[in-house]
Amino acid sequence: MLRVLICVSGGGTNLQAIIDAWKAGELGDTQIVRVLSNNADAYALKRAELAGIEGVCVSPKEYENREDFHKALLQTINDANPDLIVLAGFLVVVPKEVIAAYRNRIINIHPSLIPSFCGTGYYGLKVHEAALARGVKISGATVHFVDEGTDTGPIILQKAVEVKEGDTPKELQLRIMEEAEWVILPKAIRLIADGKIAIGDKQ
Ligand code: GAR
Repeated sequence: MLRVLICVSGGGTNLQAIIDAWKAGELGDTQIVRVLSNNADAYALKRAELAGIEGVCVSPKEYENREDFHKALLQTINDANPDLIVLAGFLVVVPKEVIAAYRNRIINIHPSLIPSFCGTGYYGLKVHEAALARGVKISGATVHFVDEGTDTGPIILQKAVEVKEGDTPKELQLRIMEEAEWVILPKAIRLIADGKIAIGDKQ
């Protein structure tokens, strides 16, 4: 069984897509063991509660410095004993010690077709604002493994979505969520649960 920990920061629509897929029996031999938020007010925590999944908050505001916050984050993750960590709208830079301890076992959803509109400063609506400002006609979403860089790890799945004339950032964001994110994130978890993803050495 694949023990999955899901990390969130906000509304949690990607978390909801995973929960719905899980409840529909679409995630294979998977258990969502815990939801971790850095934000006590995240609606995602409510979604976890409604689904009967234990939620936990580790907020940087409760720690004197970044180092203590990182230690608490690692400890909380270790307590859940996950096989896979899913960053589903988790807007914290994952500390090096977490990446080292869970190498190739952390995946992230990013709301663009990497390598476009990704890296430092590109998160949430900012990604869509940048895509519209550049005038791209196609955008989409990417699920990738997390390494020490920002959005640089190996790509697992991508899905393209059409940008429509006159789109606002919010309209584009919603279309990308509905058509891509909520589809490929559960799908990636299923592929991992089924043992269908392997990481080879880079050429
Ligand atoms: C999603 O669009 C996700 O792709 C994005 O934040 C949103 C969270 O929404 N993540 C990033 O931008 C990471 N760089 P949600 O809380 O409703 O799932």
